[in-house]
Amino acid sequence: MDIARTPATPDGNPEMADAAVEPKAPPEIRREDYAPFPWLVPTIRMEFDLGLEKTRVRTTMDVERNPAADASPTIRLNGDGLQPVSLTCDGGDCAGHMMDGDDLVITLEGDRHTIEIVTEIDPSGNSQLMGLYASGGMLCTQCEAEGFRRIAFFPDRPDVLSTYTVRMSGPKAQFPVLLCNGNRTGEGEGGDTHWAEWHDPWPKPSYLFALVAGDLVARTDSFTTMGGREVELNVWVREGDLDRTEHAMESLKRSMKWDEEIFGREYDLDLFNIVAVSDFNMGAMENKGLNIFNTKYVLADPDTATDGDYDGIEGVIGHEYFHNWSGNRITCRDWFQLSLKEGFTVLRDQLFSADMGSAPVKRIEDVRVLRGVQFPEDSGPLAHPIRPDSYREISNFYTSTVYNKGAEVIRMMRSMAGEELFRKGTDLYFDRHDGEAATCEDFVKAIEDGTGLDLVRFRRWYAQAGTPKVVLKLEHEGETAKIRLAQTVPATPGQPVKEPMPIPLKLALFDRSTGKHGGEELVVLGEESAEFAFDGFAEKPVLSINRTFSAPVSIERAVPREDLVFLAARDDDPFARYEAMQELMTGYLVAAVSGDLGENEREAARADIARALEAVIEDDRLDDLMRGELMMMPSHSYIAEQMLVAEPGRIHAEREALKADLGARLASPFHALYDRAAKIEFSLGAEAKGARKVKTLILGYAAASDPAKAVELAAWQYDRADNMTDRQGALMVLAGLDSVERTDKLLDFYNRYRGNALVIDKWFALQASSLHPQVIEHVKALSEHADFTLKNPNRVRSLYMAFAANPHGFHAADGEGYDLIADLILELDPINAQTAARSVPPLGRWRRIEPGRARLMREALDRIAAAPRLSRDTFEQVTRSLG
Ligand code: PHE
Ligand code: ZN
Repeated sequence: MDIARTPATPDGNPEMADAAVEPKAPPEIRREDYAPFPWLVPTIRMEFDLGLEKTRVRTTMDVERNPAADASPTIRLNGDGLQPVSLTCDGGDCAGHMMDGDDLVITLEGDRHTIEIVTEIDPSGNSQLMGLYASGGMLCTQCEAEGFRRIAFFPDRPDVLSTYTVRMSGPKAQFPVLLCNGNRTGEGEGGDTHWAEWHDPWPKPSYLFALVAGDLVARTDSFTTMGGREVELNVWVREGDLDRTEHAMESLKRSMKWDEEIFGREYDLDLFNIVAVSDFNMGAMENKGLNIFNTKYVLADPDTATDGDYDGIEGVIGHEYFHNWSGNRITCRDWFQLSLKEGFTVLRDQLFSADMGSAPVKRIEDVRVLRGVQFPEDSGPLAHPIRPDSYREISNFYTSTVYNKGAEVIRMMRSMAGEELFRKGTDLYFDRHDGEAATCEDFVKAIEDGTGLDLVRFRRWYAQAGTPKVVLKLEHEGETAKIRLAQTVPATPGQPVKEPMPIPLKLALFDRSTGKHGGEELVVLGEESAEFAFDGFAEKPVLSINRTFSAPVSIERAVPREDLVFLAARDDDPFARYEAMQELMTGYLVAAVSGDLGENEREAARADIARALEAVIEDDRLDDLMRGELMMMPSHSYIAEQMLVAEPGRIHAEREALKADLGARLASPFHALYDRAAKIEFSLGAEAKGARKVKTLILGYAAASDPAKAVELAAWQYDRADNMTDRQGALMVLAGLDSVERTDKLLDFYNRYRGNALVIDKWFALQASSLHPQVIEHVKALSEHADFTLKNPNRVRSLYMAFAANPHGFHAADGEGYDLIADLILELDPINAQTAARSVPPLGRWRRIEPGRARLMREALDRIAAAPRLSRDTFEQVTRSLG
């Protein structure tokens, strides 16, 4: 035992008052220090005596020495704010025990023991929403990553797997429904209380434990697996929400079927429960047999949910369901391996959504998230490899890098192997590691063995942070087209020098006159640089590169604008077409912001962009969902990412100016498209969805070019809307324009939906992300609104995260936006540290922002850093951001 702090007495102890003072620098946990736990805990029994203010937990665990680990005279049971109310070993006194910080360390002399500990917790006082907490009168848990230790003393690490038996009892009237992992094995009642006993036959780590007690109702259905198992499915919600659960249930059934067909994975219990809770730090959680969801990813009907919400629900339901194999049956050895389950599961949910809807549109959306969120992360102070080397607070590593880049890395293996061989690889992985706590290395090895690929160098993608840059040159001589590629992986915190990584690039060379290519090729840039030659081109071809975004890299090349116009109009890969449009607009905007363009060049570029966009509007081979993608302008953050040092004010101004210019030039084709789309009646099908998408995009262009007209049209769309997508789209545009209609419709929306938390979230978010000149005043006023609370993460996100992602408000030149976020972080940190820490990254971008604002951003970070008692979460994010 290392440090002996105030020893605990078995019946609770009063001497722990100073434990609340957080040390200034929490320790760094390093991947290379991993050692297996000295003890196994094959079985655990828990008894919960449930109450909102006081819940008593009796935990009985059988422990035995782990033959695969170094022997230890003690067992360390993690706790977080717990006191043992009572403690016994084998029914009597333990040989010795003490508190070491928050952990309970017990001396064990033999090879097998039974430890019983009672703890008491106050769920209603738990505003961190980790462990057992109260949400709107119900009780629920969140244990990933380290929340279980807030419920019971236990080796709270993912490589300790146990079989759980849980008995829960509580007042029947308050908690008529009692749920836990696995199957219900018994129930009963006596007087005002009742109880249920649950058994989960599948050994699991503590982070997958879950329990729910509350007044809930279920939509019930069933699914018969390929092996003939009949599974009862329930989606549990509050009484009034039942008629908004159909889409979630249908999505669940589709997920179950899809995972059987595409990955050969069958469900393994007779019951699958989903519970929706309104206070939740994340999107959802894959607890075994009892997924707990943010209401945002369950509830939908056309009047309250947008098309984006419907897609989000399908994707997240799929994601959590797919974790049953990629996460639960095979879990992570330690938290450095998080991408083992998250990267793979994101890839699985992406492929699922692609199969359920438009695959190209889904691919474009996924790349937009990657480039809008992950690329900035990878080029800033918080950059880390998909398998990090160290952390202070693991909650800070549930990042776009671990999730989205993690998915891209596995997608590259899939592209190189081909679908069929990739399936052999995943079959082998599931087969080889079922029931284990595995590593990323185990995964790569299984893919290597199953596919026959050589992934020796490819493993660097797991170890190195930073988005690789590929410089490309296309040359033409005689009949030969030559492509020269050279890669660099930029330095990132703690990683000054990088090795080249294999980069698979799909490409096609188009003949300018016929508009055709001779077939797509996959080249792998395996070294620092390489050259690829292609024969049979009398004329210099048009190169389409990184088709389908086959590698998560940025490509730097000098490409004639006419080639981009060509590709935007005819590339047969829809992603590449989108990319050409984006490149056209981004190229222009970066040059315009940098002041590199004369008036003639500006005019020529804008005319080309308008021509390309007009071709998109008029191309009748396109469906509107795809047309909408091609009509979208690159985001502010993507443009900023292309520049070494960004000037947010200028980017915003140039981007709005281009929008206005295009809106004016294309007023009449836009109008015609809007009219056509407005005639399509509401349905959830692709055609009607596409129509809604282009309508609101057109409103956005009109808002920039002809605000008065836009107000009129948006108000009209708002008034006749029979669905949330149209209504929210119209209101979003109105929110940015000063007008009577703005006030009217915002008020109408609020009154119409008051009491519906998810829709009121939209009302906050629309105003916080608006282009209105007074957006900061609006956000301040909204933070005082009766419906605003720091206790609900969805509400916090809808106001402040939306604001921090709104460059026009956040980057106000006088630093007021930065102060607003710093104030929020300081106020929220003691209430909900995880959510507070998630607002830090926008301030951490200061190195890439012009000096005036950079200084103000640093000052905001310094002010947070100087606060006396920061959580581990916020402390780590702020110190890394100051770098
Ligand atoms: N494991 C969850 C998922 O990605 C995310 C999560 C992490 C939820 C931590 C809650 C807490 O599906
Ligand atoms: Zn996940």
